[in-house]
Amino acid sequence: MIALGCDHGGYELMQEVIAYLEKKGLEYENFGCDSTAAVDYPVYAKKVAQAVQSGRCEKGILICGTGIGISIAANRFRGIRAALCGDCFSAEATRLHNDANILAMGGRVTGPGLAVKIVDTFLNTEFSGEERHVNRVRGIDED
Ligand code: RB5
Repeated sequence: MIALGCDHGGYELMQEVIAYLEKKGLEYENFGCDSTAAVDYPVYAKKVAQAVQSGRCEKGILICGTGIGISIAANRFRGIRAALCGDCFSAEATRLHNDANILAMGGRVTGPGLAVKIVDTFLNTEFSGEERHVNRVRGIDED
């Protein structure tokens, strides 16, 4: 199950992502928002972060205008590793190295064709599981 969340700046790109997930037959839970009317991105970051944190959803996708605010907000939640990606290399690397569990994108930055390829890469790349990466990921949540 993939948790989805966006603000008004990410709403239109999220519709493209939803169309892609439906085409692929992938299950998702959409936490909003539901239009281009102005909303506050931390609200949706929190909903998706908590869905992933609790295990209710395996991964998440968050989109705001830049992808910056919504990824900053999501990363405040322990165990959440939200990666802002604007290219497929980063999307692959953040799964392989960081075991990122949320993909963030900028709806005003990344076009729909590239965004869908980024989503595809993110969802289809497994964490490498290499010891050095396991140790580094563990270190993220150490006090
Ligand atoms: C909303 O105008 C915009 O600030 C938001 O979508 C995002 O880009 C914040 O980081």
